[in-house]
Amino acid sequence: MQDRTHLVDDITGHRRMRRNRKADWTRRLVQENRLTVDDLIWPIFIVPGSGIVDPIPAMPGVNRMSIDKAVEAAREAAGLGIPALATFPNIEMELRDETGSNSLEANNLINQATAAIKKAVPDIGIITDVALDPFTSHGHDGILRGSEIVNDETVDQVARAAVMQADAGADIIAPSEMMDGRIGAIRMALDAAGHQSVGIMSYATKFASAFYGPYREAISTGGLLKGDKKTYYIDPANGTEAIRDAALDVEEGADMLMVKPGLPYLDICWRMKEAFGLPTFAYQVSGEYTQIKAAAMNGWIDGERAMLETLLSFKRAGCDGVLTYFAIEVAKILAKR
Ligand code: PBG
Repeated sequence: MQDRTHLVDDITGHRRMRRNRKADWTRRLVQENRLTVDDLIWPIFIVPGSGIVDPIPAMPGVNRMSIDKAVEAAREAAGLGIPALATFPNIEMELRDETGSNSLEANNLINQATAAIKKAVPDIGIITDVALDPFTSHGHDGILRGSEIVNDETVDQVARAAVMQADAGADIIAPSEMMDGRIGAIRMALDAAGHQSVGIMSYATKFASAFYGPYREAISTGGLLKGDKKTYYIDPANGTEAIRDAALDVEEGADMLMVKPGLPYLDICWRMKEAFGLPTFAYQVSGEYTQIKAAAMNGWIDGERAMLETLLSFKRAGCDGVLTYFAIEVAKILAKR
């Protein structure tokens, strides 16, 4: 018999990576990670009024919705099997002030939305943020005193706001304002109010990122923001510091952890999952969404494939799920498979 061994067989010691890739069925058989609808958390934007579906120019395909429309959207999401929503309010300008006092109104826009969605669609989870930026006249996540975002006073306020959000029906409180000690303070406040079953998803590592631009347009904080958020968000250069910050949140009782933004910080997702083993989520933020949409709208990339590839990469990086504005679009695609 003629020896058909090739030089490549000698080089690789007869190992060939391409064997397992040769057909669709082998590829399916060896696929390590899969994206399912259970991995999706859908962030939505709420505006006052009724009957409103207002497109956000910087986020093509994403709308600000009044509560009645958000309820319809929640029903659609639940029907598709999306486990949870994350709600963000676009508070009326007249209600914003230096301390974000509207965050402490039991009946404010975000709490009204929670109550309405919970009543109409009880089986979808609701995750609410307690950061003050939708409520402040300066767009910062905390209380501004002079030129400082004051930590402890902000923590007192977000802990109280968290209890009100839980009273309204929120299932998970997700504090994104990066104040020190907030997770412990929120846990104690929730428990004291009898909300032992309300969870905390910590925005454990939130970086001072350029990718939040379109979100700030969506909730009208972009034009308000004085300065930047570098005194409380993490420097994008720092990975070890991010893990240390997350460790404190774990000690303080966080039930779940989040990395934000997502794609530029996959290393952090991996390190965090390895270090703590808690359920870990990535927030594919507005700028990440918009990049893909804008390029796809110009015909420069295949938007659907790019979307699915980025979402799958979060799974590969160790995440249990993703907050993504693509959630509804992806859920429809996954339902057809
Ligand atoms: C602030 C907050 C931000 C986002 C959600 N809540 C960041 C910011 O405005 O600084 C960003 C979400 C996104 O970009 O999709 N608490």
